[in-house]
Amino acid sequence: MEPYQSAKEEIKRAVDIVELIGQFVQLRRAGLNYIGLCPFHSEKAPSFSVSPSKQMFHCFGCKKGGDLFAFWMNYHQVSFPQAMKDLADKYHISLPERHPFHSGLGQANALETLYKLNETAAQFYQRLLTRSDKGKTGRNYFEKRGIPAQIISSYRLGYAPDEWEGLTAFLKEKKVDLEKAVQAGLIIPRKGGGYYDRFRARVLFPIITMRQQVVGFGGRVLDQSLPKYINTPETPVFRKGELFYGLHDAHNAIREKGRAVIVEGYTDVLALRKYGFHEAVATLGTALSRDHLRRLKGYANETVLVFDADAAGKAAALRSLSIFLDEGMSCRVMVLPENEDPDSFVNKSGLKPFLESLDHAAPMFDFYLDLRMAGAEGRIERQVQVVQDMSPLLLGLRNHVQRALYIRRLSEKLGIAESWVLAELSKASRVSSTRERVDNRSDEGLVNFPSRTADDRLLLHLFVHYPQVIEQFAQRNLRVLLSDAAVLQIFDLMLDAFHKEGRLAPERILERLDGETAGDLLREAIMESSIYRRDEVDQALKEFEDKVHRLRIAKSKQKALGNVEEANKIPKLIKKRWG
Ligand code: CTP
Ligand code: MN
Repeated sequence: MEPYQSAKEEIKRAVDIVELIGQFVQLRRAGLNYIGLCPFHSEKAPSFSVSPSKQMFHCFGCKKGGDLFAFWMNYHQVSFPQAMKDLADKYHISLPERHPFHSGLGQANALETLYKLNETAAQFYQRLLTRSDKGKTGRNYFEKRGIPAQIISSYRLGYAPDEWEGLTAFLKEKKVDLEKAVQAGLIIPRKGGGYYDRFRARVLFPIITMRQQVVGFGGRVLDQSLPKYINTPETPVFRKGELFYGLHDAHNAIREKGRAVIVEGYTDVLALRKYGFHEAVATLGTALSRDHLRRLKGYANETVLVFDADAAGKAAALRSLSIFLDEGMSCRVMVLPENEDPDSFVNKSGLKPFLESLDHAAPMFDFYLDLRMAGAEGRIERQVQVVQDMSPLLLGLRNHVQRALYIRRLSEKLGIAESWVLAELSKASRVSSTRERVDNRSDEGLVNFPSRTADDRLLLHLFVHYPQVIEQFAQRNLRVLLSDAAVLQIFDLMLDAFHKEGRLAPERILERLDGETAGDLLREAIMESSIYRRDEVDQALKEFEDKVHRLRIAKSKQKALGNVEEANKIPKLIKKRWG
């Protein structure tokens, strides 16, 4: 076996896929497999399945799937060699020194180049902050903000000097391809040629992923000038809409507590961390998105949004309610006193009052309802409007108990009988039902296999779950029943493997399939529980055989129209089969 293959096998032996994926996705046992909410597309009911016996995962919704390498590559957006290296490091598996991927990393793919450049820049800025004369301004700034050395080091804070070509010159010296540094968002081309630094005279907050990779920076001015923050622009590795600041440090605590606390700013995360609070992360100056929640879903059962008391903060909280409901994530909202953010609040009052407010944070639905109801007391038109506005949200709740409780809450707040709210809801549901159907269809990222005949699907199940039938199937010339190209390809490979090896593990065929469709289809069949029970297999085969005969007879009949010789064959065909 070539070393590449043997290292891969060794990692597979050492790492259990359920344990690995369980670190990123909350899994629960369901029969032989584990299921959870898919991290690769938006969904409310789990279609993501992990098989311990097959060491495979598959999402029945978006059809992503494969082995543990496929999971790592998809989840972290890395190449195969990088996934090998990551997993080997993570599980302390030593890989042969002169392993192909060591050299392979040299010509790493485009994403890894971006990671590397960000890392180089982070080291440059970090060194400036901590060890240079130029960095004194930055050090003073963090000192004034009360950020201790230990946090400066674990969050890898940095300082960009007040120079046009600080980083640019450094990268040039390192012989870095400067166009790549432009792609990483670190430097900017000048009109007349040459480049200049994006971040100048700012303290820098590197955005670090759970893989401890720097993917971008936020940079703050040291004075009152504007803009207060600039961030790395969107790059293939820096997608603001799904990244959190602080997750590299917070994820263990979030998993332990089952709770994530989402704040607005970088400095809020750091201040809380200084006071020993580890569960806080911040969005990068963007609204909270579904992708954000999908990232957290694997760790947290619950999130608490901490917002400034200002109108913008509240509006942001309100906008995210439907996202939380859609993703099935429970959420509470904590509002800080006027003119405070978590940073100013804990620095003034310490952690204890913060924790107390956190415990008393209202469920998001109540928060929403209270805000909507504010000023509506005694004003009938406004109250009617509240019910109408709430209807789509309530109707969108999948959990019926939850829906019933919210309906009760709403009617209590309005001081009317639940039956009236229900009546209004049923009116709204009639209006929305057509729209809902369309919405469901457009569920993000869902793939439907092109329709194939029921026979293709049933037979694929037979082959996968009862591979021993495959030979009988071939001997009885039943291949004609298959019409789908992907299923035919699977069948032929399985038969071939059976002839060559005398036995068959359908998973082994996966690697030999070309084309994604066939692979996805086979994986899905493997992960599904069998349509046939063991004692139904013989009967099923017999029925398929009958079907082929009926088809042959029908064909003969067609041909026989006006052809005596063919017509004479029919009784024989019938007799041969059914005596
Ligand atoms: N932000 C941004 N661009 C801006 C302003 C803000 O990206 N021009 C983002 C940053 O991620 C910032 C967050 O929004 O951390 C919150 O902004 P703000 O409350 O203004 O800053 P603070 O984090 O409180 O920073 P500081 O305490 O240093 O003023
Ligand atoms: Mn602040």
